Amino acid sequence: MSINIAIDGPAGAGKSTIARRAAAELGFIYVDTGALYRSVAYHCISNGVDINAPEQVEGILSGITPELRFIDGVQHVFLNGEDVSDRIRTPEVSMGASKVSAIPAVRAFLFDLQKKISRENNIIMDGRDIGTVVLPNADLKIFLTASPEARADRRYRELMGKPDAPSYEQVLADIIKRDRDDSTREIAPLKQAEDAVLCDTTELSLEESVEKIIRMIKEIL
Ligand code: DC
Repeated sequence: MSINIAIDGPAGAGKSTIARRAAAELGFIYVDTGALYRSVAYHCISNGVDINAPEQVEGILSGITPELRFIDGVQHVFLNGEDVSDRIRTPEVSMGASKVSAIPAVRAFLFDLQKKISRENNIIMDGRDIGTVVLPNADLKIFLTASPEARADRRYRELMGKPDAPSYEQVLADIIKRDRDDSTREIAPLKQAEDAVLCDTTELSLEESVEKIIRMIKEIL
């Protein structure tokens, strides 16, 4: 039986960095499910598909094959055989991913892929509905959060210096909108599973957060 750890939480809570580091330390595979939603949004944006029109988005699903491949332990997202890992990290794709993730057909489309990976590997999987929908029987569920300001500050620093980097105010506004959209959508909204452990990293450094999560995982192993 594989070991499954679920980490959910809002945008910018540090899920991916913390989960990646913890997985490397424990020899688990880190699965970033947001990348799958991002790949669908990226495909729509680059092919003139209106992400605000669910029937248009639904229409393209049968023609795309998103895949997660693990190269030297690092997740790469492939879309129809092409590595799109870097191209899905723009603010436009972030907002688009949040939009397409509210479409039931998109969630159903990506569900099996996530389940398959969880059955075959020891994983730390992060997302919004991992503890509630994808892995309801996970060995450990963590709900990772931080204040919107702390999350915006971290995201702003990540994007700083990149071409077209947004202002701090823009990053904060995007985070607040995404939180609202992700947690109020009808299907699989972002919420803490009843049996998830809450971990607030507002006052913690990255190092402290990683250590805390690794400690929590080691306790159940
Ligand atoms: O984790 P992220 O920022 O890369 O996710 C991008 C968007 O994808 C996020 O705003 C909501 C959606 N998402 C989701 O609905 N369910 C998941 N398991 C992961 C991401």
